[in-house]
Amino acid sequence: MSVTTSTPSHTFGRSMLSHWYLDPALTYLNHGTVGAVPKRVLDAQRAITEQIEREPARFLIRELADVKQFVLEGPSRMRAALAPIAEFVRARVDDLAFVDNASTGVNAVLRSFDFAPGDEILVTDHGYGAVTMTAEYVASRTGARVVKVALPYPDTDAARIRDAVIGALGAKTRMLVIDHLTAPSALILPVAEIAAACRARGIATLVDGAHAPGMIDLDLPALGVDFWVGNLHKWAMSPRSCAILWAAPERQKALHPAVISWGYTMGMAAEFDLQGTRDPGPYLAAPEGLAFMRELGLDAMRAYNHSLVWRAATEFTRAWGTSVPAPESMYGSMVTVLLPESFGTTGDAALALKNRLLFEHRIETQVGTIGGRISLRLAAQVYNEWSDFEKLFAALGKK
Ligand SMILES: Cc1ncc(COP(=O)(O)O)c(C=O)c1O
Repeated sequence: MSVTTSTPSHTFGRSMLSHWYLDPALTYLNHGTVGAVPKRVLDAQRAITEQIEREPARFLIRELADVKQFVLEGPSRMRAALAPIAEFVRARVDDLAFVDNASTGVNAVLRSFDFAPGDEILVTDHGYGAVTMTAEYVASRTGARVVKVALPYPDTDAARIRDAVIGALGAKTRMLVIDHLTAPSALILPVAEIAAACRARGIATLVDGAHAPGMIDLDLPALGVDFWVGNLHKWAMSPRSCAILWAAPERQKALHPAVISWGYTMGMAAEFDLQGTRDPGPYLAAPEGLAFMRELGLDAMRAYNHSLVWRAATEFTRAWGTSVPAPESMYGSMVTVLLPESFGTTGDAALALKNRLLFEHRIETQVGTIGGRISLRLAAQVYNEWSDFEKLFAALGKK
């Protein structure tokens, strides 16, 4: 395959791998799955751990969280770490909490919500499997029902998706669970427009923004949703385990973490900041991930990642005589392309391809199936460069 465009920044690419522990023998094209933590963020986490261990009880009980039973010395360390994160997503600190991961945030919201028998929870067929399972679990305990709407895909756009989701809202819909950025198809969904329609009908919205922080610019209050969850440990360069949960002020009283502890009924900050004894290192080191991204240049990083992955998607599909499933504006640093049917159509074929890429070619990438086609989720981070995608294309081979 020929190289027809140049990348926008010479500072990004393979040389950036020195900031990560990633094995240089591996072509890592799967930043979206579990992230990859930069060395300096791990260093910050390690420094926090050492600080904790100098006086563990004082740090974890008297300095960490503002909970009535414990006498707080100075400002809460959890709230102090959240402050720059809140600024990053343009939210009030009081409306945010750290959670371990997107799954934990989704569980808190769905398990707290007061569903009644006959209520419907609307999900989409591009929702993350474990999130949909959580909705099903909650439905099975409350007598509610999960309804799944199929998104128009491929050959789609934001307006068609918006209309499909809004068209599926019914008289019994109590909550819509929708992705900000879908896992299988990597689409950025028009959540603000959809949330406005939900609000007008009195339907609550829970947005799964697992992939959004770091990858796309965020203004959480402006979305007009009720609940929003996003991982910092994917694209925001934080240590694992680290995610955020945002809730509209009027929703916070009825929202509780899955783990009830000393902060129970004392408000979102107290309830979420202290959930038994645990390691707060990933949360407290999360601002270092933001600092690293700012140093790289947020706009430059996003532009580089997007242009690299979009170029790969367009050149791959052109070579196969197909097209990218949605317009460029619906993608950030990941684009899912559908392989021609000659590559196979089943989950087994997808797994075989994923294994072949990993074990024979040392390429880590996300392979799945959507609608009877093998899907390849291309992802670009600043340590990737065009030659990584050329290697992937060559390894896929002609069919
Ligand atoms: C869209 C989406 N939601 C939720 C999750 C779950 O994230 P976590 O495993 O960090 O809880 C993922 C993970 O990949 C995801 O892609």
